[in-house]
Amino acid sequence: MSEKTISLDLTTEKLYKKAKEEKIETVWDRKKIMKAPCGFGEKGICCRLCSMGPCRISPVKGKGAQKGICGATADVIVARNFARMVAGGAAAHSDHGRDIVHTLYMADKDGNYKVKDEEKLRKIANELEIQTENRDIYDVAREVAEMLLNEFGKPFGTLEFIERAPESRKKIWKELNIEPRAIDREIATIMHSTHMGCTGDAESLINMSMRTALSDGWGGSMIGTDISDVLFGTPVPRETEANLGVLKDNMVNIVLHGHEPTLSEMIVLAAEDPELVELAKSVGAEGINLVGMCCTANEVTMRHGVKIAGNFLQQELAVLTGAVEAVIVDVQCIMPSLVTLSECFHTKFITTSPKARIKGATHLEFEEENALESAKNIVREAIENYKNRQREKVFIPQEKNHATVGYSVESIKNQLTRVMNSNVDNSNPIKPLADCITSGVLRGAAGIVGCNNPKVKQDYGHIEMIKKLIANDVIVVTTGCSAQAAAKAGLMSKDARKLAGEGLRRVCELVDIPPVLHMGSCVDISRILNLVSDVSKYLNVDISKLPVVGAAPEWMSEKAVSIGTYVVSTGIDTWLGVVPPVTGSEEVVDILTNRMEDMVGAKFYIEQDPIKAAEQMLQRIEEKREKLGI
Ligand code: SF4
Ligand code: FE2
Repeated sequence: MSEKTISLDLTTEKLYKKAKEEKIETVWDRKKIMKAPCGFGEKGICCRLCSMGPCRISPVKGKGAQKGICGATADVIVARNFARMVAGGAAAHSDHGRDIVHTLYMADKDGNYKVKDEEKLRKIANELEIQTENRDIYDVAREVAEMLLNEFGKPFGTLEFIERAPESRKKIWKELNIEPRAIDREIATIMHSTHMGCTGDAESLINMSMRTALSDGWGGSMIGTDISDVLFGTPVPRETEANLGVLKDNMVNIVLHGHEPTLSEMIVLAAEDPELVELAKSVGAEGINLVGMCCTANEVTMRHGVKIAGNFLQQELAVLTGAVEAVIVDVQCIMPSLVTLSECFHTKFITTSPKARIKGATHLEFEEENALESAKNIVREAIENYKNRQREKVFIPQEKNHATVGYSVESIKNQLTRVMNSNVDNSNPIKPLADCITSGVLRGAAGIVGCNNPKVKQDYGHIEMIKKLIANDVIVVTTGCSAQAAAKAGLMSKDARKLAGEGLRRVCELVDIPPVLHMGSCVDISRILNLVSDVSKYLNVDISKLPVVGAAPEWMSEKAVSIGTYVVSTGIDTWLGVVPPVTGSEEVVDILTNRMEDMVGAKFYIEQDPIKAAEQMLQRIEEKREKLGI
């Protein structure tokens, strides 16, 4: 990869140049040293599940080892590896969800964690058939928490939230026997079935992968989103800014990075504490500048408008500005390289979770029982580090863009009914959206999600795909690092309407929204599931028949494999811009990109060129419209 083309983002290019000049290693340098990826790993045909091996299958048919020592074929090995990726991703999202429910369990009107959205809690309680009338809201909260915690390990039945799916979808899941049961159980079943000498059938392994992934999307992630809203508030539209230009030369800069809002919400409160603001002034700063990175950024920008410093591939670059007093992290997507990188500057790299300790980092464990005090101590560490900033090393690129964020399903519905109720029947808030789609003013909708990956020019996949889609009247909803790419590129500003096709532009002007809607963090893809389910139920057609598509143009993590699998299993065709490690098995490729359509009505598409992928998506949308007769 040429050094000039590592990113579409100018701040990345500028800071990468700074890293080169100062001989500081970044992810792109390590990628270069790695040279070509391992050919066996890349194809998924390496197995190390037992000590008779490790075994690797020859990629050339009929030549060399065609089976593992136990007799496992390439199909079985590839499918087992894929299933384990799904299990890893589902575990990460769902354990995040579980932690949030634990926080709800300990919520108290006099404590640090309170119920912020009582209406949403009551709605969930009703859904779970929990009595709410004449009860203290915190009693309800505890009963809801107990019931949701049981979703992880209950011995019988299926997950509660799959009841939110349309009947047609539930029927498909039932017939395929992929209705998710308890969340932990699905993950454990995959680990068991992929153990040496268990399942030896690729299709069965992909089936199990679908069930486990559904326990993530319609289970752990959905629980994570809903209970975060209950505790911290359901997002409403608000203004923010995005990119490393949000760092401030004259302030204590704190980068919040990771995933769970339990920590970040308390840090937001701590950073507003008058005593700490005074402390920041006493060390010579004008105040505290809290900014977000990766999904933590999404959580706090959706609920507080906290500015977005950047997405996954910018975590090292934030430190490289030399202007960051502390990077505070919890779990997931945190590069261990931040330890050595921080040592080149004054930055304190602070880990807070026992689930993600990193050797060499400053570990200040976040204690939920004593949350605000714990958060204040962490912020204090950052403030006291301001005096160590080496001015000659500071370089903050000025690029940043304006963005409107905060589009939860509730806020989308509110906005639609509020603005359009003068000329539509607003008995169902989903009607205006469905009408726009059926009339053809909007051709369809696309969910663009996922990570950055140094195999891909940063943000290029996201931005080119999104631009092409909105220009063709497809409304885009987005989460995760994709959302941040869009925000940085200005696509979440209302100004970006000028890039939209005529129909989409009209809708955006009428409803007063940007053409790309920020729906939150990666677990918040569950918001997209709820939204498409509502549209499907309203129109009385299965999700797989709707002109709706999904894509992860720059995915890299196991979480993304789980997401892709539950999105497809929900009936939404999904485009991947990075080839997953499955090409060593013709059968697995055939299942994922072909046979899954017969099973769940949707499949994976692999296309590395985002523009070509967008063209395929548009074509698919038109095919679906034609079949629906709209
Ligand atoms: Fe080899 Fe089979 Fe053991 Fe895998 S499980 S390492 S293929 S012998
Ligand atoms: Fe994420």
